[in-house]
Amino acid sequence: MDKLLIKGGQPLKGEVHISGAKNAALPELCAALLSATPLVLHHRPQLNDVRTMETLLSQMGVKITHHNGSVTLDAGTIDWPLAPYELVKTMRASILALGPLLARCGEARVSMPGGCAIGLRPVDQHIKGLQAMGAIIDLEHGYIAARASKLKGTHFTFDVVSVTGTENLLMAATLADGVTVLDNAACEPEIVDLARCLTAMGAKIRGAGTPRIEIEGVTSLHGAEHRIMPDRIESGTFLVAAAATRGEVVLRDADATILDSVLDVLRRAGARIETAKDTITLRSNGVGKAFALVTAPYPGFPTDMQAQMMALATCVSGTSTLIETIFESRMMHVQELKRLGADIDVDGNTARVHGVSKLSGATVMATDLRASACLVIAGLMADGETTIDRIYHLDRGYEKIEEKLSGLGASIRRAKGGTATDAATLS
Ligand code: EPZ
Repeated sequence: MDKLLIKGGQPLKGEVHISGAKNAALPELCAALLSATPLVLHHRPQLNDVRTMETLLSQMGVKITHHNGSVTLDAGTIDWPLAPYELVKTMRASILALGPLLARCGEARVSMPGGCAIGLRPVDQHIKGLQAMGAIIDLEHGYIAARASKLKGTHFTFDVVSVTGTENLLMAATLADGVTVLDNAACEPEIVDLARCLTAMGAKIRGAGTPRIEIEGVTSLHGAEHRIMPDRIESGTFLVAAAATRGEVVLRDADATILDSVLDVLRRAGARIETAKDTITLRSNGVGKAFALVTAPYPGFPTDMQAQMMALATCVSGTSTLIETIFESRMMHVQELKRLGADIDVDGNTARVHGVSKLSGATVMATDLRASACLVIAGLMADGETTIDRIYHLDRGYEKIEEKLSGLGASIRRAKGGTATDAATLS
């Protein structure tokens, strides 16, 4: 398995371009299933999760071609509305094929996604919502077997705010008979971007980005072109890395308007941040103050940024408090941060991080995507060398991260498999 070798202590300085958003690209790839004519997505992020989703769709019969940063998906014929366990177990977001397949083909067979390091990750809301739209759903042999001659519009209220649950039902409703109202819907910017893509395909949607979304079903959707929004979590990750290494970075192709809660916490930690059209500049000469955050559905502080902020918290003066309210076990990074010298107490979903003067490099292990990003930031901060194992987690959600960080002055390189002597070769 690949490892990352990092020699810490270099402040990050320079410019970095932000890639297309993973969590917008994944539902928008599935949206292609809704149309018999091709969908073209621009600004495609080169991520393992995107490749996995494309593999899944091509197995169903979707013809996929790539051309300088864009992807064309032709779902003219869908031979096999199946999402097999072998692929779903590597990427839970495969569940996003369920709604579109049901709406387009009237049937779907999608493996139940298992849990993962951060939580049980049930999909009951997806199932309940589709049943409310008239789908017959059986759970058999680890699969969701769904069928519906024609989905019907319904008024569905989510019991919990679910991002992919909202996306699945939003996509299904575009081809349902009649009007669908989704209440207690997620408001994440990726849902707004998905709605923009679906609208370009001919869907009739009102209220995306608010807790109530209304969709008027149409008989068919058509192909379109759509540019995937910038990745707000990648943006936040680079801003935190700059603050944590006391550097100064400019993000290009970034959207500050969807990062308010993250920018607010960084400013409270002492960072100076200026924003302009698609750029964000962070200067960290004032960074060093403890802070508090509570994760929440958008526009609250994003759970996908909690681990990264915890890395910053390890070396500010005072005690920072981070409360995770979305997932039941999204603190796996704490143990690894402690190996680097962090002083953290965890009580349930609350972590109290007592600032220390510095971290010291060590070998640590990534457990999930955002925990990996946290450990990269900690390695960039630490004295000496840090080796991060199992970075396949990282490759799922960050495009060329070691190249982008090297471009900002970091001493970081990837070792294939890797042996103890590799660390010694870092210059
Ligand atoms: C999406 O996951 C994101 N993934 C996650 O990003 C993100 O952390 C999460 O939303 C929260 O913002 C994608 O968009 C591909 P949820 P999702 O359904 O949709 C419970 C990353 O690092 N729930 O909003 O799976 C659930 O257990 C990933 O990029 C149910 O109980 O999350 C959780 O406690 C990690 N029943 C809460 O709701 C359901 O049917 C929010 O989950 C669905 C969810």
